[in-house]
Amino acid sequence: MPKLIAFLVFLLIELIFLPSTILGMILFAGVFLREVRGKNISITAYDPLFAHWVLDALGKRDDEAAGRLLYALPGGSPGLLGLAFGPTMWAMHVTGFTIKMYDYPVHSSSGIFAILGHRTTFFDDALLRHLDHVEQVVILGAGWDTRAYGMARRKGVRVFEVDTVETQAQKRESLEKAKIDSTDVTFAPANFNKESWLDALKRVGFDPDKPTFILWEGVTYYLEAEAVEATIQTVATQLAKGSAIAFDYAAKHIIEGDASLFVRIALLELRIFGEPWMFGISTDPPAKEQLVEFLGHNGLKLAEYEPIGKGDKKQRLDGGLALAVNN
Ligand SMILES: C[S@@+](CC[C@H](N)C(=O)[O-])C[C@H]1O[C@@H](n2cnc3c(N)ncnc32)[C@H](O)[C@@H]1O
Repeated sequence: MPKLIAFLVFLLIELIFLPSTILGMILFAGVFLREVRGKNISITAYDPLFAHWVLDALGKRDDEAAGRLLYALPGGSPGLLGLAFGPTMWAMHVTGFTIKMYDYPVHSSSGIFAILGHRTTFFDDALLRHLDHVEQVVILGAGWDTRAYGMARRKGVRVFEVDTVETQAQKRESLEKAKIDSTDVTFAPANFNKESWLDALKRVGFDPDKPTFILWEGVTYYLEAEAVEATIQTVATQLAKGSAIAFDYAAKHIIEGDASLFVRIALLELRIFGEPWMFGISTDPPAKEQLVEFLGHNGLKLAEYEPIGKGDKKQRLDGGLALAVNN
């Protein structure tokens, strides 16, 4: 279907279903807030899971476990998800038109609001490239990430997940409810702001002398600077040579409140949900050099870098995606 026609048909379907979409969103939000309240689990972890569910449903990225886990988590009612988001997903499916947020794969940034497709592509690619060269994969701040139950499964590679006690306990309960086999995944609870994730991993059989790939997606934002630096230093000094860590980060000026109104409202929402953004790295030009300096200061070398946002003379970048190595 030509692009313009696809877009117009997409819009028409959206308009026809608008009343049920609005009703679905209101009901979904109500049930979601009621079910997650008081559980002390990560709310921000739902965003990437939701995107992975949509990408799988659109046939753009295989992640069968994403939908099954989503339906088994608090607030993940399949009926209400279908009512709220089903028409949009169906409209994208039949027309081939994709909302920017759900593009995949995406190899360059179009800004902070369309970050998920770009970020998912970067971390998927980094993980797949490292699976042949490492014996251990650690997903730090794993949240509802489902790569351990699909993409990261490889003979001879042991996968570990680390997250806070409550979020991890909820995930394990929901994996069981969804009948997703997690017997080959090792879980280690740890709060990065309070304790060493390496000690937590060692207690469950992690071997720091084996080359390891660490996936640290969507997490630095929520940590104290000391915790981020401690993680980088741990990879630099305590893991086997040949280990690598992939992570993303926000620009320091955004953390300091120098951002558009939209971004400031989004950050206020995160604060209300108890997951404020706390950490950023300067993206003053040249942004890549700022990252190299931050990593070098903590003992790692930058191997790959992709900017988030469209920096120019007037506007600084929103953040970055990084792969750092310890040799
Ligand atoms: C936006 S979610 C990202 C989840 C997952 N990495 C993904 O991309 O799907 C952030 C995750 O970091 C975890 N997290 C945030 N602060 C943490 C801390 N201090 N200690 C351990 N985990 C933390 C949250 O519980 C949550 O699961």
